[in-house]
Amino acid sequence: MKISDDIIYCGVNDKKIDLFEGQFPVPNGMSYNSYLIRDEKIAVLDSVDKDFGDEWLEKIEAAACGASVDFLVVHHMESDHSANILNFAKKYPNAKIVASQMAFRIMKNFFETDFAERRIVVKEGDSLDLGKHKLNFIAAPNVHWPEVIFSYEPNEKILFSADAFGKFGAIDEENPLDDWACEARRYYFGIVGKFGANVQAALKKVSALEINQICPLHGPVLRENLREYISLYETWSKYEAESEGVTVAYASIYGHTKAAVEKFAEKLRTAGCPKVAVSDVARDDVFEVIEDAFRYGKLVLAAPTYNCGVFPAMKNFIDALTERNFQNRKIGFIENGSWAPQAAKAMCAQFGNCKNLEFCENVVSIKGEMKSCDEEKMDALVKELLS
Ligand code: FEO
Repeated sequence: MKISDDIIYCGVNDKKIDLFEGQFPVPNGMSYNSYLIRDEKIAVLDSVDKDFGDEWLEKIEAAACGASVDFLVVHHMESDHSANILNFAKKYPNAKIVASQMAFRIMKNFFETDFAERRIVVKEGDSLDLGKHKLNFIAAPNVHWPEVIFSYEPNEKILFSADAFGKFGAIDEENPLDDWACEARRYYFGIVGKFGANVQAALKKVSALEINQICPLHGPVLRENLREYISLYETWSKYEAESEGVTVAYASIYGHTKAAVEKFAEKLRTAGCPKVAVSDVARDDVFEVIEDAFRYGKLVLAAPTYNCGVFPAMKNFIDALTERNFQNRKIGFIENGSWAPQAAKAMCAQFGNCKNLEFCENVVSIKGEMKSCDEEKMDALVKELLS
């Protein structure tokens, strides 16, 4: 794949992976992107996952037409991109390794060397000249790790954005670009969601650049609709709701809470709620549910009482939200308890350190099976949520 006449894609597709980063289901696989810039000097941008070292090195050799490579630029040190740095360094003993100071510290932790004899440390504002092309470096700490740098090639107006603007899924005809946001959103909130302020800082720097293409480390190269994608990143990183709707996330032990949620969702739809996204946090991909919770402005949590608190799957789900700085949302609760429901109080307490949350006054409290007398409270909660 050509990015331009002088820039060649050298990344790989991983179609055997079960869980990306050990936790994210990726039914459509994953790509680890790497690029080669051919000029007076030749630079490779980033490595790939450990299982693809030989394939990657072969692609580099072909893209460089057998010439020696002068630089390996490391934008991000997480192992899905850095695992083959040593293999590269052995194959190209005269190449320099280019990265941030922090990246070299992390290299020592993985490789017992920080390439002291052959490294170029770069920081915000530094450039690497290759001939016609050059790379201007932009510090992007915590998008996703602290050592991350982006680079911008001003001749072709290409942003190399590390993990930013990445998405799950291999790059092939089975994963067309027409619904980029779906898996890009799950990727963003799963992986970078906690670091909204850092993403905002990086977007501010990038906003001054004229960009024709964005080359991320995962997923397709972006050439069209760049304004739309950058705008989504603005919304996501500010923790603003993207669409109108209610996420209803539930856990259920014997199905009684699930039945109550089905009734509640029906009431929301009847009342005109434009989107009701219902998920079981014990059975569905929890990262899809996290994605929905950040996508819509309103969230309802429904769970049984368990060990005088809340059912574990729901407890874990709320932890996953609060770890990612969940904020700016309206939240309602449905609790169940066969003799003494107290899950709502426990769920609410978990959000204690979150900013700008509004909790609905109407709490639906069910004892065992939902009864007709519970519907009045449900109707009140629907009204309060949609007001
Ligand atoms: Fe794709 Fe944060 O590594």
